[in-house]
Amino acid sequence: MAKVLDEQSRRAVAARVQYYRDLGIFELYKREIPEGMSFGQAISREELARVAEESPVAVLTQDQVTVAEPAGEVVQLADILNDKPAALRVIREEIGDCTRCKLCEGRTNIVFGVGDAHARIMFVGEGPGADEDAQGEPFVGRAGQLLNNMITAMGIRREDVYIGNVVKCRPPKNRAPEPDESATCGPFLMRQISVVRPEVIVALGATAAKFLLGASDSLGNLRGHIYDFRPDLPQGAPERDPDFTTKLVVTYHPAYLLRDPRQKKEAWLDLQIVMKYLGMPMPKREAESNPERRSERGPEA
Ligand code: URA
Repeated sequence: MAKVLDEQSRRAVAARVQYYRDLGIFELYKREIPEGMSFGQAISREELARVAEESPVAVLTQDQVTVAEPAGEVVQLADILNDKPAALRVIREEIGDCTRCKLCEGRTNIVFGVGDAHARIMFVGEGPGADEDAQGEPFVGRAGQLLNNMITAMGIRREDVYIGNVVKCRPPKNRAPEPDESATCGPFLMRQISVVRPEVIVALGATAAKFLLGASDSLGNLRGHIYDFRPDLPQGAPERDPDFTTKLVVTYHPAYLLRDPRQKKEAWLDLQIVMKYLGMPMPKREAESNPERRSERGPEA
């Protein structure tokens, strides 16, 4: 028997509905959650798809919210953190076949993100290029090869990190995303960050660095530091956690390093900031070398 929400739950759901509206989502569907199971558990067990198939759906409006159990449909942060892959799938589902900005017109695939949902390090680029658009995965072209080499130089594998972009559709002619495109798509990146909760974010290039830090400095000024970072999430976002902060390091975009390989040693110094912060072992040649002469070459192209 459906019950009307108590005041606190109603406010939480109203905030969530407003959050979806801000993202351009106006139709929400109620799905019954099996008794004794939280929303997050239902998702994590992939029950939701089965439930949706078996149960009639009803349009949910802000004024007529009912649930099977009070607060049963409010996703708890604990559920999200318990099953990060499921929480990322939920974000992907919410993006859907997105037409929120003009980048949808030229895209082949939405490039959501890839990697370990529990990664300690998250790399953030600008937006997909032609190869990524074709394959639906970030950093799979030449710049991606170099990024892989940078990751390997750190003594870890691509599969050990999480990789995302500020925008999820390819900008025409590989131009930088425009402010309205970053503003529309960026909240999804903030949510991905809030789910993965990496210990360090590496912003690749000026677009990612400026978007994440809200800064207007040059990349040269932004790199070489370790920043405190808190994802900027709308009120009501299920991943929102006022206590969560992480670190952010800025480095050159791999595509730029392909054009100017002399900067690789600078990028390598940036990656060493990350490694030192995380207590990762330095590759032998670094540990043995004079710190003044660290890495003359940087990662291989
Ligand atoms: N450049 C980016 O910024 N992101 C990608 O995914 C590929 C190239």
